[in-house]
Amino acid sequence: MAEMKRFKTIGVVGSGQMGSGIAQLAATHGFDVWVLDTDQDALSKATKSISSSIQRLVSKGQLSQAVGKDALERLWFTSNLEKLSSADIIIEAIVESEDVKKKLFLELDKITKSSAILASNTSSISITRLASATSRPHQVIGMHFMNPPSIMKLVEIVRGADTSDETFDATKALAERFGKTVICSRDFAGFVVNRILMPMINEAFFALYTGVATKEDIDAGMKLGTNHPMGPLELADFIGLDVCVSILKVLHAGLGDNKYAPCPILVQYVDAGRLGRKRGIGVYDYRQMLGSVKP
Ligand code: NAI
Repeated sequence: MAEMKRFKTIGVVGSGQMGSGIAQLAATHGFDVWVLDTDQDALSKATKSISSSIQRLVSKGQLSQAVGKDALERLWFTSNLEKLSSADIIIEAIVESEDVKKKLFLELDKITKSSAILASNTSSISITRLASATSRPHQVIGMHFMNPPSIMKLVEIVRGADTSDETFDATKALAERFGKTVICSRDFAGFVVNRILMPMINEAFFALYTGVATKEDIDAGMKLGTNHPMGPLELADFIGLDVCVSILKVLHAGLGDNKYAPCPILVQYVDAGRLGRKRGIGVYDYRQMLGSVKP
């Protein structure tokens, strides 16, 4: 196994819903993991959520007590980028913005060892352009986990224009070590999954916006009519409405078709701070269910 020799320490940048899930996955598979976020609140939230998620898996018998304990000892949280200098691979899961990600890749290129792979969990942004911010484009790759990373079986691997075969093989082996099935996508906006998923989600918002049906009926229609486990509006809340808008903007800019322009009501939800489950409210109100803020 090429990756077993190659990877011992994994750096995860961004400790939001995806970064914390990826960090948990890596730690429970025996890797040392540094988790970095610029936001202290996000870091302490991630510390708690990973710990309770691991404890839940142990109590359900899905993870042995020894592996759970070992995983918690392998996780370190920091806001100091230098701490990631020992990582063999960095998996970036920060905000879906090309400018912000490029700035980070530039920094990571400076502080990581020259053999380290720089992977991005981006949903839609060009890997080739992120790679162009570094001096090692052959070691930059897309490693797109699905939400939640510990449960969903797929990792979409995206090769930039200069990604080497060695980088691809090592990243694929790592995803398989995590128990995932890999698909490979060429580097076009939205790759495979979001190229197809986001237009459906956007269309569901247009159906809501133009009064075709209620949110409940739109979701029930797609769940019961097409056998999807979640309706598109519920799924958008789960992904994060801000993330959906960012991905649609990348699709719109990259593929140049107005059909990808985010629906006005979706943009308005984001403007209002209704970002979905992570904020307790999006299309639906989860605040009572999650026991957080009063509705
Ligand atoms: P999130 O909003 O839950 O977390 C993002 C985290 O990144 C926040 O904690 C924020 O403080 C941190 N951050 C922002 N800028 C930073 C910087 N410069 N350095 C360090 N930390 C920084 O977002 P989420 O949902 O976890 O998404 C992260 C990435 O994963 C995005 O690229 C998104 O497109 C992708 N993704 C999201 C999925 C989803 O269902 N939400 C699924 C698959 C990929």
